[in-house]
Amino acid sequence: MSSREKLKKYLAQRMELGVGKLVVRAEEPVAKPLALSQPVVKQETLFGGASAGLRDNPVRPDPNRTLESFYHEIKDCVRCPLGHTRTKFVFGVGNPKADIMFIGEAPGRDEDLQGEPFVGRAGKLLDKILEATGFAREEVYIANVLKCRPPENRDPQPEEMDTCSPYLLEQIRLINPKFIVCLGRIAAMQLLETKLALGRLRGAFHDFNGIKVMVTYHPAALLRFAEYKKDVWEDMKTLRRAYDGMELK
Ligand code: URA
Repeated sequence: MSSREKLKKYLAQRMELGVGKLVVRAEEPVAKPLALSQPVVKQETLFGGASAGLRDNPVRPDPNRTLESFYHEIKDCVRCPLGHTRTKFVFGVGNPKADIMFIGEAPGRDEDLQGEPFVGRAGKLLDKILEATGFAREEVYIANVLKCRPPENRDPQPEEMDTCSPYLLEQIRLINPKFIVCLGRIAAMQLLETKLALGRLRGAFHDFNGIKVMVTYHPAALLRFAEYKKDVWEDMKTLRRAYDGMELK
């Protein structure tokens, strides 16, 4: 491969990760340093399915619903073609009363086979990240934007995300976490309704209906680009500090 092709590939990979162009845009606002009291993005539209893509909300209000009963309601979903190609529906795993919820993109091959999110290589790395931050996997809740695997692990399509998002939003409502960590661009895009690159969303807590949202790199990205590990570590230390601060109150 020529160096020009190598550079092209490298830039394409960076764009894919949402790191953005290698250009300093001093005139554009960059996310402020992490400030718990000053969320940079106020997000209030999604609960209740009011936003444009979610008008056809299959989740009817039910005051008696629990996370477990919700699983039984939706586990046979075939509202999009992925429902016909999946092996297992991947609802989510962890503490139904978790203070912290991690949201990834979509099940991969291992998750599709086992019916649990983040059990493959990226999942093992997520477990290590959790452990290093002092959280047990059972203590937090882990879910994805999509509940079914896209064939060949391709990117989720916008229609698939809009079809599936009401499920995630209901999970968030039922769990009612204090913090959400978006793992990667797809989760951040969907939850915060933004097209900003991941690199620009890091470094500040965003607000989603009173829940503090942190955006960081997806563990799969760390498997390919080890240089992002230190950024994720900084993000996790910030999360830990904020969580500990909250517990003292
Ligand atoms: N990647 C994700 O985003 N989610 C999983 O569950 C596994 C890999």
